[in-house]
Amino acid sequence: MPIISMPERKAWVLRTNHTDYAIGVDESGALQHLYWGEKLSLPDDYPGADCRQAWIWEPEDGISREETMPWGKRNFAEPGLKVEFADRTRDLVLHFTGAHIENDTLRIELQDALKSLQVTACYRVFGEFDLIERSLEVKNTGDAPANIEQAMSAIWHLPVYSSYRLTYLTGHWGAETQLRRETLHEGKKIIEARRGITGHTSNPFFAVDFGDAAEEYGHVYFGGLAFSGHWKIVAERTPYQTLQLAAGIHDFDFRWLLKPGETFVTPVCVGGFTADGYGDASRKLHGYQQEHVQRNGGELRKVLYNSWEATYFDVNEENQKRLAEKAAKLGVERFVVDDGWFGQRDDDTAGLGDWHVNRTKFPNGLKPLIDYVTSLGMDFGIWVEPEMVNPDSERYRQHPDWVYHFPDRPRSEGRNQLVLNLAREDVQAFVFQTLDELLSTHEISFVKWDMNRYFSEPGWPCAEAGREREIWVRHVNALYDIWRRLQEKHPHVQFESCAGGGGRVDMGIMRFADQFWTSDNTDALDRLRIQWGYSHAYNSKSMVCWVTETVNYMNGRRIPLKFRFHSAMMGTLGIGMNLNHLTPQEIEEAAGYIAQYKQIRPVVQEGHCYRLSPPEHSDLTSVQYVGRDGLQAVVFVFRHAQQFGHPAFPVRPCGLEPYMRYRNEETGEVRSGQGWMSRGIQLKLTGDYDSAIVRLLQVQDNDKEFHSFEKN
Ligand code: GLA
Repeated sequence: MPIISMPERKAWVLRTNHTDYAIGVDESGALQHLYWGEKLSLPDDYPGADCRQAWIWEPEDGISREETMPWGKRNFAEPGLKVEFADRTRDLVLHFTGAHIENDTLRIELQDALKSLQVTACYRVFGEFDLIERSLEVKNTGDAPANIEQAMSAIWHLPVYSSYRLTYLTGHWGAETQLRRETLHEGKKIIEARRGITGHTSNPFFAVDFGDAAEEYGHVYFGGLAFSGHWKIVAERTPYQTLQLAAGIHDFDFRWLLKPGETFVTPVCVGGFTADGYGDASRKLHGYQQEHVQRNGGELRKVLYNSWEATYFDVNEENQKRLAEKAAKLGVERFVVDDGWFGQRDDDTAGLGDWHVNRTKFPNGLKPLIDYVTSLGMDFGIWVEPEMVNPDSERYRQHPDWVYHFPDRPRSEGRNQLVLNLAREDVQAFVFQTLDELLSTHEISFVKWDMNRYFSEPGWPCAEAGREREIWVRHVNALYDIWRRLQEKHPHVQFESCAGGGGRVDMGIMRFADQFWTSDNTDALDRLRIQWGYSHAYNSKSMVCWVTETVNYMNGRRIPLKFRFHSAMMGTLGIGMNLNHLTPQEIEEAAGYIAQYKQIRPVVQEGHCYRLSPPEHSDLTSVQYVGRDGLQAVVFVFRHAQQFGHPAFPVRPCGLEPYMRYRNEETGEVRSGQGWMSRGIQLKLTGDYDSAIVRLLQVQDNDKEFHSFEKN
């Protein structure tokens, strides 16, 4: 039973396989947080709704642990909901009016004490993954308009501890998803995006522990916000040692007009608890994403080739055909033509918005290339950036009012381009029709949807009065809607979300995006860190990693082909090299890695991920995947730079069955799961950029040997 109701206490327990999350109504009628942690056994184990302590200057309601945290009365914490009514009242006091349970969903209805505003706190339980999805619905039931000034998807109240530590992801273009862990002191730590997209600088993922958790042990509270635009997560630690995490749409420059009868629905925020450390937290998110978020979660992702780093804007029918031939020989399954195939797109100064095939580069359209690619046994994929125009484009010359701008003020360009205002219905129609036509008239199986600048001057001059600041949400919702409609009409087409690398990676767009372009940084060493951070929040199936050429453009580093492949084989493998530059030996070697990848792909893409050795702690990084059936494990080991002649230290795998035997596929050595986990794998990795993949295969017929050994 995922939701246990305790009517005599007006309380509910959301129960997952290993956790309980309890809420209840207090004497005043407010919905209070009661408990979140390990499963409890007796009704009396849960605290009551009225047991908060009072402090001088901070009466009970001043340190309220309300689930929705309305801004009113004496609620001083980061608001969960802030509303201005037509008579300019800015006070919101929510009282319980009813609860509805349907299977795994609980909806608690609340109503403002005096005004006609109905708020529904929504909860959905994902038992297997110990996760709860939360969101808020706000309905204007009165006859005058109201304005929402802040609406968070969830307020998470953590148990009171003496120390809290926040884990989050930060970075920048070319250095996304860098992991940070820091102690929270009194005050607020805010991670946010105010740039129109999810952003490279922060990612809407969080984890909190009490200062003592590690990869495979310790209490961790974690989660993520499913939204691809204007968001913030606020970790607020009070001087009374409480911690609340507010996650949702950013209130900065946000205002939503709620007319009588209208409902505003927030995005979803998912949160969970584990007693088994960061690794378990990640595995829970990974599994949930695969089962409940990704629309093609159960499908293995194809090995792709992408033309970007090989030919940049200089794509044409002939050079793409030559690359396609070589890609097919390597074992590539999907060939993707990147930027440069449309309009007057010879560099990044022109063409965006003009989505017709460039006839100089493709005299007979894309069909001959697509036919050739499919005749070679590969899918065909294409790059688009539909939310943009270059000022130097036919589209912009015809519709200069289609971009975000303030009248009479300059329009700042980023990468020589401007952002289309997706809040406008005519722009939505243009974007949908453009893609619909492209997909209807070509045999395209894959779309890489890019977005290469942040918003600026976010004006919407023709908006209905009072709706101008809704663009931050309307843009994202329109984008989701376009993707949804395209996917309904073209269900076989897979989508990749890209924004100058990993600028739009989150669980909101993940409902539509089968995979993400993780970073424009394809340096295999840097990638170890980027991918390490990424794995905390998102599964490996969604993480696209290309093998590109050496010297890599990012750091000028030379890395052997083996290391580059191994690094990219930890997610969805792609090839981004100019294949004409490879020697016959390198072609053969590369084909070997691709064949090996196909063998281990189900384990890497769908298995349980264990992070064994972090890139920043030593000269060795190691990540392991255990197949869902438990029958095999794949361990990736990377030696960055040997020093002082030290041997590589042993890597200790996790997640094996202690009493089953496993054979090292390469050496033939057999040990028990415990034997491998306790003693570790000792590898001869020397010099710079050495790497290995170790496959441990479970040996059947285990019982005999263990029993006879234990008897001795
Ligand atoms: C972005 C993407 C790249 C490539 C270029 C094309 O930078 O991240 O992979 O598609 O755009 O202009």
